[in-house]
Amino acid sequence: MIVYKDNLAKLAGIVGSHTKTFLLLDENSERFCLDILKNSGVLTGDFVKIVIPAGEQNKSIDTVQYIWLQLVENKADRRSLLINVGGGMVTDIGGFAASCYQRGIDFINIPTTLLAMIDAAVGGKTGIDFQGLKNQIGVFSQPLAVVVLFDFLATLPKRELLSGLAEIIKYGFIVDKSFLDASPTEDFIRQSIAIKDEITDGDANERGRRKILNFGHTVGHAIETYLNCHGMDIRHGEAVAMGMVSALYLSEKLCGLDPRWTTLYKEIYAKNFVRYNLGNIPAEELLEIMRHDKKNEGGDIRFVLIEAPGKPVFDVVVDLKYILDSISYLIDYMEDENYWSK
Ligand SMILES: NC(=O)c1ccc[n+]([C@@H]2O[C@H](COP(=O)([O-])OP(=O)(O)OC[C@H]3O[C@@H](n4cnc5c(N)ncnc54)[C@H](O)[C@@H]3O)[C@@H](O)[C@H]2O)c1
Repeated sequence: MIVYKDNLAKLAGIVGSHTKTFLLLDENSERFCLDILKNSGVLTGDFVKIVIPAGEQNKSIDTVQYIWLQLVENKADRRSLLINVGGGMVTDIGGFAASCYQRGIDFINIPTTLLAMIDAAVGGKTGIDFQGLKNQIGVFSQPLAVVVLFDFLATLPKRELLSGLAEIIKYGFIVDKSFLDASPTEDFIRQSIAIKDEITDGDANERGRRKILNFGHTVGHAIETYLNCHGMDIRHGEAVAMGMVSALYLSEKLCGLDPRWTTLYKEIYAKNFVRYNLGNIPAEELLEIMRHDKKNEGGDIRFVLIEAPGKPVFDVVVDLKYILDSISYLIDYMEDENYWSK
C-alpha cells in the first residue's frame, strides 16, 4: 500500500494497532527528517528510536545485530512494528531485520531519499551486503505500507537526487520513453512509484517480468561493488546510470536496438550524471563480481536488454566477449571529451 500526505487516512488503525512502535533511522534521517515526520501525523503514539550509522558500508550483519539487540532490549514482541525512516540503506536493512526478528514482525517504510521513494522502499526486497557482495543476504518481504512524504527531499543533497533520477530514467527504457526526459518532479515520482508497485505486485519473488527492473544493474552493480570494496564513494543510481550505457551497447549488438537511443542516452548522461574514470578497473574483476549476480542461473551471466524503449527482454545470456566489449565501450565513453564538452 502506497500512502501519500493527501491520503494518510489509509494508515488509520495500522500504526496504533501494534503493541510497540520502533523507529529505525540513520544519523542523517534522524537529523533531517525526524521533526518533519513527527509533525506529519503518521506517528500516533510513543515510539522507541533506533539510530544506525549512515552509509552503504553499514548495510551489514553487524548493524542488523545491533537492531535486533535494540529490539530485544526494548522488549519488542511479535506484534511490534518497525518503521524504517531513511534511504534505501535503512529500508533494506530495516525490512530485513524486521522480517527475521521472531520469524517476522510488521514493518512500514518511510523513504527519505528519491531513490528509496521510487525504488528501494517499494516492492519487498530487503537485505544486507555480505562478503563484499551487494544484497547477498536477504528475503522478499512486503512492508505493510510505504509512506511517501515529498517534504523530505528538501534537504537531500543534489548528488542523491540525481542518483534517484537515474532509476526514474531507467523506466524510460523499460516502460515508457517519456521518462527519458524526466526530472525529479512530484508527478514523475508518483508515476515511477506506480510503475514499480505495479511491476513488483505481479511478481513478488522476481520469477518473471519483475526482472526488467534490473536494466543497467548487471554492470552497474559490479562497478558499485568494485568501487565500494576499494573505498570509493559511489551512489547506487550513479552506478546504474553507467550500467545502462553497457546495457544499451549490448542491446544494439544482441537485440537490434537502434543506436540512436544509445547516442541519446549518452547525451542525457552527460547532462545529469557524474563522470567516473573507470580506466583502472580490471574488467576481469567486474566479471567475477557479475558471476555472483543473483539474476544468474547455471553459471551464465544474464542481462536485461531492450529491443526498443518499452520493449525489454530479460534473462538474456551474454557471451563473456560481448560483456567485456560493453565494459570497454563504457570506459571509452567516460573518457570521450566530445560528449563532455557539449
Ligand atoms: N530493495 C530494493 O528494491 C532496492 C532497490 C534499489 C536500491 N536499493 C538499495 O538502496 C540503497 C541506496 O539507497 P539510497 O540511494 O537511498 O542511499 P542511502 O540510504 O545510503 O542514502 C543516501 C544518503 O542520504 C542520506 N539521507 C537520507 N535521507 C536524507 C534526507 N532527507 N536529507 C538528507 N540526507 C538524507 C543518508 O543518510 C545517506 O547518507 C542501496 O543499499 C541499494 O542496494 C534497494
